[in-house]
Amino acid sequence: MAKIDVVLGLQWGDEGKGKIVDVLAGRYPAVARFQGGPNAGHSLHFDGKKFVVRSIPSGIFREGSENIIGNGVVLDPVTFREECGNIAKMGIDARKKIAISKKAHLILPTHKLMDAALEAAAGKGKIGSTLKGIGPTYTDKVGRHGLRVGDILAPDFKERFTALKNRHLQEFAAMGFTCDPDKDEAEWMDAIDFLRSFRLVDCEYFLNEWLEDKPVLAEGAQGSLLDIDYGSYPFVTSSNTTIGGVCTGLGVAPSKVGKVYGIFKAYCTRVGSGPFPTELFDETGEKIRRIGNEFGAVTGRPRRCGWLDLVALKYTVMVDGVTDLIMMKSDCLDDFETIRVCTSYRIGGQETQQFPFDTAAEIEPVYTDFKGWNTDLTGIRKEADLPVEFKDYIKFMEDYLGVPISIISLGPDREATIER
Ligand code: IMO
Ligand code: MG
Repeated sequence: MAKIDVVLGLQWGDEGKGKIVDVLAGRYPAVARFQGGPNAGHSLHFDGKKFVVRSIPSGIFREGSENIIGNGVVLDPVTFREECGNIAKMGIDARKKIAISKKAHLILPTHKLMDAALEAAAGKGKIGSTLKGIGPTYTDKVGRHGLRVGDILAPDFKERFTALKNRHLQEFAAMGFTCDPDKDEAEWMDAIDFLRSFRLVDCEYFLNEWLEDKPVLAEGAQGSLLDIDYGSYPFVTSSNTTIGGVCTGLGVAPSKVGKVYGIFKAYCTRVGSGPFPTELFDETGEKIRRIGNEFGAVTGRPRRCGWLDLVALKYTVMVDGVTDLIMMKSDCLDDFETIRVCTSYRIGGQETQQFPFDTAAEIEPVYTDFKGWNTDLTGIRKEADLPVEFKDYIKFMEDYLGVPISIISLGPDREATIER
């Protein structure tokens, strides 16, 4: 019996999951997405080029790979078709390499409009959603009137679509929200026809049979601090981005889960609203944004930047049961005299190493400072060649978090990776 290993983002998303899944996918004949949707933007760099995938698993570029879109995912057929078009230009036949769960939910054009309506109504309290219809689609799923991928094969699909759309129209009217709900419908229906030409599967059977002799890599989207249960609610996404999402989003039991790779950046970023205790509003934050090129892959928004938060990281390591850590983008800190990491929070005069319930509370980060290594790490391929200051820094993190850092990434390219 083979295992399903997992890659999870441990921060607020954008940790570099695309690159790592692409690196690891050479060892896994199948890669599966289990939650989220086109709010994700996973960037991969190889052969001197950059590729971004949104709903398609990041294993797609590996020869012979199988790529599964699980039932926990919400799928926008229009974005999906666009993505398939992009990879077709590289000679990859999406139909051969992608299987989609019939139980995955569909994002309708009116779900996207609902996202916009809700954000507009929230005013200052808005989430900073990517406006891809994620929240409204999951709301309909839980409310038990969503449309699933398998429904597109039903003879009365069109009627079911209209019934759900009409529900949305009633809500728009009640909110006083005006829009053109028909604008994108023809394109969406076309994309549904495209979707019909794919392998639509019972992903729980598909994966459990696959796991009898072949391993799978599960690819998380977003990050654990955006989890609907454990994130900084309500400034979160609408799915379980933490480990439990793998089982419910794919139909595999916890006993089938093997390694849990937890991926984090050597600093923090956040896009959208919500608490961010170590956020920097000064030149240092600017410098991290510039060197790290911290602009959204989906929306192009500048990302908020700050120092690494070990309190939050230890929390997500615990919740996810991380067995192996992967550290990204430490090369972006090559040129800093001092590197800070937050090792506790001071809240109301009390110091704590626990991530609080009330993340909107005034949190003062307490830092431990490290001497910068002031060395260009990007060309280093062997652990022995790493500067001593850098080794001290990662040893400190391993001790604090209680989990080994197994992979260090020192640049966006596949090759810029050290395995320890
Ligand atoms: P990847 O997979 C970073 C953020 C949004 C917003 C909140 C809710 O590339 O790491 P949603 O559209 O889900 O309703 O937005 O979550 N967000 C992400 N931030 N990376 C992502 O994905 C994100 N997906 C959603 O900015 O604050
Ligand atoms: Mg992203």
